[in-house]
Amino acid sequence: MAVVVRGNAAGMTLIEWREGDRQFHLSNGRLSVVLAIHENGALGLLHLGRPLATGRSYRHMLSRPFEGFSNRLGDPVALECPTPGSGDYRAPGLVVEQPDGSTVLELAYAGHRITAGKPELGALPATYVEANDEAETLEVDLRDARSGVVVTLRYTVFRDLAAIARSVVVRNEGDAVLTVRCAMSAVVDLPDDDWTLIHLSGTWARERHVQERRLAPGRQSISSNRGASSAAQNPFIALRRRSTAEEHGEALGVALIYSGNFLAEVEVEPFGTARLRIGMDPENFAWELGPGADLQLPEAVIVHATDGLGGMSETFHRLFRERLARGVWRDRPRPILVNNWEGTYFDFDEERLIAIASVARDLGIELFVLDDGWFGKRDDDTTSLGDWTVDRRKLPNGIDGLARRVTELGIQFGIWIEPEMVSERSELFAAHPDWAIGIPGRPRTEGRTQLVLDFSRPEVVDHLERVLSDVLRSGPISYVKWDMNRTITEPWTPSLPPDRQGEFFHRYILGVYELYRRLTAAFPEILFESCASGGGRFDGGMLAFAPQAWTSDDTDAIERLAIQWGTSLAYPVSSMGAHVSAVPNHQVGRITPLSTRASVAFFGAFGYELDTTRLTEGERAEIRDQIAFFRQHRELIQYGRFLRLRGPFEGDGNETAWMSVSDDRRRAIVGFYRALNRPSPGPSRLRLRGLDSAAEYRVSIWPAADDATGRANTGTRRGDELEAVGLAIDGDRDEAARRGDFWARLFILEA
Ligand code: DGJ
Repeated sequence: MAVVVRGNAAGMTLIEWREGDRQFHLSNGRLSVVLAIHENGALGLLHLGRPLATGRSYRHMLSRPFEGFSNRLGDPVALECPTPGSGDYRAPGLVVEQPDGSTVLELAYAGHRITAGKPELGALPATYVEANDEAETLEVDLRDARSGVVVTLRYTVFRDLAAIARSVVVRNEGDAVLTVRCAMSAVVDLPDDDWTLIHLSGTWARERHVQERRLAPGRQSISSNRGASSAAQNPFIALRRRSTAEEHGEALGVALIYSGNFLAEVEVEPFGTARLRIGMDPENFAWELGPGADLQLPEAVIVHATDGLGGMSETFHRLFRERLARGVWRDRPRPILVNNWEGTYFDFDEERLIAIASVARDLGIELFVLDDGWFGKRDDDTTSLGDWTVDRRKLPNGIDGLARRVTELGIQFGIWIEPEMVSERSELFAAHPDWAIGIPGRPRTEGRTQLVLDFSRPEVVDHLERVLSDVLRSGPISYVKWDMNRTITEPWTPSLPPDRQGEFFHRYILGVYELYRRLTAAFPEILFESCASGGGRFDGGMLAFAPQAWTSDDTDAIERLAIQWGTSLAYPVSSMGAHVSAVPNHQVGRITPLSTRASVAFFGAFGYELDTTRLTEGERAEIRDQIAFFRQHRELIQYGRFLRLRGPFEGDGNETAWMSVSDDRRRAIVGFYRALNRPSPGPSRLRLRGLDSAAEYRVSIWPAADDATGRANTGTRRGDELEAVGLAIDGDRDEAARRGDFWARLFILEA
């Protein structure tokens, strides 16, 4: 029997092809994916999970071989690219409408290639490798002889991560015009349904709260049809076993590297198998595929863990931080910034901004960010989007004059833009009313009194590239916050004929990616932060261009515990913009201690969002201390291993704790947070993870306090004690009585 394998430069074989068994085995010692070609030529999944030995046939796992029409109708055969027909009643991965209106395809194996490394995905963002020995890629071609549809399923297995990147190209090699009606990036047919589905849901100011539900017969799905991945649902789902917890048990996470409409779904069919699908939302989607044309689908990243949800997240964090984010800022410690939005909203002028920036500089802040309101005549949110020329009433010396004064103070300057939008009251709208998305003759829904520009049209993207490049060239700008404050409600574009309007949403996102690509290429030193009314487009697609994203407009420390916890299921700490703001908090009116606000925001791309000139002397002293502390530990927190310890979605949610550990396990920082204080505490303990059990750690607390918690923990503790017994959180009744609500402590461990 011929067994064809490839070794990469590290001498490892990641993809094995057993010709006699017609079986592919992708494995790296951390996970295995075994695929086999059914008798009828369809490709099916035999196993996705724990690593299995290579050099063996697993064909016996095909308990229900798929032999075309010989299988019983409705039998749940595992398929990698299911299409209508063949007795498969489950939701398909690919639907292509043919000239006769039918959609049945018989996709059969037509060849494959195994290559070192990982190919790019054309216009779409994707994970990547820096050297060919970091991964191997399998491409399998499936062909439908009658229609000429050829599907290339692409699987990349990373050498050092329990992760697979999966994408698909659909090609028309026939001579008729076809229409793709549904095209999933990944389908995973799982042999059982004994899973709990986890997804991240919410809305403005409470994004990515963790939701869990047991799988049940039928389809359970999340999706977005808003033109953006959205705050309502995130393009990420996970499955966990009943017994899986943070630190142990099996988990399977799937994320779509895409920022537009998506669908993520698990279907349990009558025999109890589960089909997971993720990809562009088929609702409102149709793509014309002329002879010779192809369609590249977005990438899905699949992570398998046997060490719990924590292990799953760690793999996503590493992959997204190191091989999805790119550019010079990928590995750099992120600047501590002050953003003027909550400090001034639209009410500012050059002198007020300089005053904020100069106090910020004295506090140790490294970057001043000018938010919304600097252009056109924008005194409120009813006007001027699209007119990216400076408002000289507020900034008589232009962006350049302001940026120079800020940088002369000794800190960097950054600016807010919202490229995809136009206000009806704007010069841009007057000149190009047809550039705003909407259907002629019908009213357009306004959100925040603004309309969305038609980014499916290349001339719109070209225009924005021109005017925004002028802005970014106009002064010493080192940071850009790219906002997007409303989603799309009347999709339609004059640039496509009536029968191709189903292409609109995807073309819109391709336009957004194109502008991101051009601006990040032209300004490689600028740090981009994506934003969408807070965290309304926090996804892997955005992360490929902007290594950090504004996590939420909710800056309240207690609300942020839930938001940052949920976000951390898939996304790394370095990607989460997190700011300290004033109290009472502008979103919930809560008054929390300044140290608690910082203790939460430290676990992110840290900054402040307030008017520094209004701080009291005492607050300034505290902030100086916060910044000194954060500078000392920033790399550990932003680039260390992040572990969740106690969660806002567990029990009564009153306590949250997490920690960052350096790769060499010599240093760690633990954050402990309690929302409401309770009297008469017991001797509560917080057990840590990820430490070197034999190491002696010097434990200190922040902010420094001579209290019972401080006394109980400061000193030297061995790693094994900290993991087995933990830190002492409470114990002193009198002290607890003085503590108040919204209490936080950081524990610093140094071996
Ligand atoms: C929404 C963002 O999330 C805020 O941070 C701020 O930039 C406003 N937009 C400005 O309009």
